[in-house]
Amino acid sequence: MKVDGKSYRTIWLGSDGTTVQAIDQTLLPHRFVIRDFRTVEDAVTAIRTMIVRGAPLIGAAAAYGMALAMLADPSDANLERAGKLLLASRPTAVNLRWALDDLRALLAPLPMAKRREAAYRRAAEICDEDAEICRRIGVNGLAEIKRLTPRGDRLNALTHCNAGWLATVDWGTALSPIFHAHDAGMPVHVWVDETRPRNQGASLTAWELAKHGVPHTVIADNAGGHLMQHGKIDFCIVGTDRTTRRGDVCNKIGTYLKALAAHDNGVPFYVGLPYPSIDWTIEDGASIPIEERSAVEVSRLTGRTDTGEIATIDILPEGSPAANPAFDVTPARLVTALITERGVCAASEAGLLSLYPEQAKAA
Ligand code: MRU
Repeated sequence: MKVDGKSYRTIWLGSDGTTVQAIDQTLLPHRFVIRDFRTVEDAVTAIRTMIVRGAPLIGAAAAYGMALAMLADPSDANLERAGKLLLASRPTAVNLRWALDDLRALLAPLPMAKRREAAYRRAAEICDEDAEICRRIGVNGLAEIKRLTPRGDRLNALTHCNAGWLATVDWGTALSPIFHAHDAGMPVHVWVDETRPRNQGASLTAWELAKHGVPHTVIADNAGGHLMQHGKIDFCIVGTDRTTRRGDVCNKIGTYLKALAAHDNGVPFYVGLPYPSIDWTIEDGASIPIEERSAVEVSRLTGRTDTGEIATIDILPEGSPAANPAFDVTPARLVTALITERGVCAASEAGLLSLYPEQAKAA
């Protein structure tokens, strides 16, 4: 996607052929800064501190992290060590484990001398594949949302967190159908949940929609139910960090409340997802590990002051404890449909298997 006329992905290989570069998402929307990763530890820190974030991008960053590890030392011991370090960087997005399993299966049988090149090549392929998957989610999602407006009237979407191009390598998952609709000349407006506590909606989704010229309005997280009751939301669309075999959807904290409100108001609730976000090993969403992040993310806010400085302020009374569960699970029954790179299906095991028959369990 474009930033001020220049095409960017969220992560790429630098011109020296070994350094990995990525947009620092902790500084948006106020500063656009590119970070260099030269070691696996740099990649781990970037994932943990959310310089890079969003399930598909976490997977891509982990793949490049493994390439950096192989650059330093392609031994079996380092393959093992790097895999453990990266896997521990964030717990919820299954794309991380998917990418590491993929790299490990590729690298482990290879002689040490071939691992570095193979790891870099595969990391680049994962990035290209993610961009293509997300483009297809956009095409499939566009066909689905067109059905909601047979006369071509303006559609009002609601999205939570950031599942746009910043959360992936390019295009995004939930926002890809929106970008495709906008590019196709469909009138679409997006209600953007600010997404406390880290404000990915206000800081990232609003930024990328603005850069692409998509009409949008940022709302407090609590406003969605009211807007749905007043007919101002035609559909909700979100991403996912891990969707189970039965179609339970884990996503940014607060997603579940939006799905409940959507269900109560008869508003379609869609989830855009690439296949590496499906955890075929888990059936019930209750088994998904939910990341608990620092309470400081709840007690403090960072933003730009009137004088243009970036400042952080405390918003809680001194001594008040805070808790910060970062994800929740929306049960499959509240999800209208899953929009994948292979097509659109019901949020159920049968629905998913209709698109991914190779995942059927052997009888
Ligand atoms: O904590 P984050 O910012 O990594 O959470 C991101 C989300 O919850 C996204 O909705 C999800 O990863 C899907 S991204 C296409």
